Amino acid sequence: MTRPVVALSRRLPAAAARLLDGAADVRTPDVDRPLTAAELRTAVAGADALVCLLLDRVDEALLDAAGPQLRVVATVAVGYDNVDVEACRRRGVRVTNTPGVLTDATADLTLALLLGITRRVGEGERLLRAGTPWRWDLDFLLGTGLRGQQLGLVGFGAIGRAVAARAAAFGMSITYSARHDAPADVTGPLGARRLPLPELLASSDVVSLHCPLTPETHHLVDAAALRAMPSSAHLVNTARGPVVDEAALVDALDHGEIRGAALDVFEEEPAVHPGLLARDDVLLTPHLGSATEQTREAMAVLAARNVLAVLAGQDPPTPVV
Ligand code: DGY
Repeated sequence: MTRPVVALSRRLPAAAARLLDGAADVRTPDVDRPLTAAELRTAVAGADALVCLLLDRVDEALLDAAGPQLRVVATVAVGYDNVDVEACRRRGVRVTNTPGVLTDATADLTLALLLGITRRVGEGERLLRAGTPWRWDLDFLLGTGLRGQQLGLVGFGAIGRAVAARAAAFGMSITYSARHDAPADVTGPLGARRLPLPELLASSDVVSLHCPLTPETHHLVDAAALRAMPSSAHLVNTARGPVVDEAALVDALDHGEIRGAALDVFEEEPAVHPGLLARDDVLLTPHLGSATEQTREAMAVLAARNVLAVLAGQDPPTPVV
């Protein structure tokens, strides 16, 4: 019996590669970098499954290049805005993602950014590295404490809730905007209240984004949203870059409309808006939300399990469609 072919867009951690090797012929890229769109088309041609990253665009052209035998696209990420899910659905191709296993890592990084921007950690670090003279003083690099401050979570899925639990432990009050009320057993222990987005923006000391990127959330944080926030507020984004209009954010910071921003994701990754790079009231990390060794292995293993399930004619553990 011929073994199915699994195309990888990137070499996977060993535990995931071993799982796939046991049941399929695995095409592993021979270059140590993400594939170009043309290379990905060649890699996927004739494959039964594709394991891809958030950098890989899975569109009609790629699906055409793959051919009609393709059965599953498994992205190693919880966000799947890089995949044309409708095109896959039309062709009967399953799409899977990796929710759950990166919740804690992403929530941890969100707290790191929240603490980092409110306590001016990046500014302090840059000052020392630049050899700028300094001394302890009563008013030197003062930030804002978290206890008693209001956190506004835009999106209240698994990651938003994990951020809420951490922030509540720091003494923050929790509000969230979402389509529906979260269950009482989630909101009760956190004292979390649902607010309409305009109210949440207007009343939060820190706004943290945890929604997927969709046509509805593209530039959700635009000039008007930033203007609605208190001038003392901070914005944190560990979701997807295009949820924030970066040009509007630079403008809002220039005009003192908000106090600062901490960003792990960017509109045109890996590029960062030069207006953000130039500012001291912005803390930047290069899309590190899920970047722990344990999490990346767990993500890859879950993607492999999704592929193997579909190839075996079963429902995958974490399907998108
Ligand atoms: C995801 O899984 O969507 C994250 O952005 C990866 O870090």
